[in-house]
Amino acid sequence: MGIEGAIDLLACPLCRSALGLARGSLACPNGHSFDLARQGYANLLGGPEPANADTPAMLAARARVHAAGIFEPVAAQVAAQLAGRTSLLEVGSGTAHYLARALGTDPLAVGLALDVSKAAARAAARADRRIAALVADVWRPLPVRDRCLDGVLCVFAPRNVPEFARVLRPDGHLVVVTPRPGHLAGLRDRHGLLQVPSDKAEQLVTATSEFFGLLETRVLLRQVPVTAGQAADLIAMGPNAFHRLPEDVAGGSVTIDLTVQTFRPLSS
Ligand SMILES: C[S@@+](CC[C@H](N)C(=O)[O-])C[C@H]1O[C@@H](n2cnc3c(N)ncnc32)[C@H](O)[C@@H]1O
Repeated sequence: MGIEGAIDLLACPLCRSALGLARGSLACPNGHSFDLARQGYANLLGGPEPANADTPAMLAARARVHAAGIFEPVAAQVAAQLAGRTSLLEVGSGTAHYLARALGTDPLAVGLALDVSKAAARAAARADRRIAALVADVWRPLPVRDRCLDGVLCVFAPRNVPEFARVLRPDGHLVVVTPRPGHLAGLRDRHGLLQVPSDKAEQLVTATSEFFGLLETRVLLRQVPVTAGQAADLIAMGPNAFHRLPEDVAGGSVTIDLTVQTFRPLSS
């Protein structure tokens, strides 16, 4: 499946016409074409990766954190918010951990995993055979047809709200996970890590109000025991990896403190 199984959902990011598979690439009728990588993803970026794309080391740390189940309640909540929805897009998808979970058990469900990082797309292409992994920039027109999806997920990732509204069906749901100030606060304070702005969830309601109405807000607050290695991975998988990583990270209890918000498109 992969890209082939999702072909009816894809659009040319340059001219918005339908994309088809042709001789090892994706192409539109206007002559725009995009490479299909051997590792099973399509590259629609049209240029080099930006500096903030997750690196292979960040993705490896993230994969270990997910394998350890540290964010399990988040994956379960996101999947519950999207239950029964079978055409999903995850933006800033990283390893596509949340997307794979949200696709549930339906063998015909289709997921698009979009990330600006090639290493992320490689990981997403391996995550689930129902996933089509795309290298693309969320701040540009998404390579997705109008109103064809019934869910969009955005977990700790950048949000292009007008584009999310364009690709969702009128009955679609947008699920966004944002950190609260207490998220990983102990680690943050001990190691002088980047701080979380205090009102992300409230800001999101304002920022989306032209296109979306808020259906539900859930706060997930947990203390989770972690080893020293897992604590180091929690730091190394996020934006602190672009700065100097601390060397003396200890295990203990970490705070998971997040908001999961579900939105529906406003009728246009
Ligand atoms: C903090 S990680 C979250 C990954 C995943 N959602 C998770 O929680 O496991 C943010 C992801 O967004 C991606 N990203 C950053 N800027 C992006 C952009 N402009 N377009 C698409 N993806 C982007 C990064 O490469 C990274 O994989």
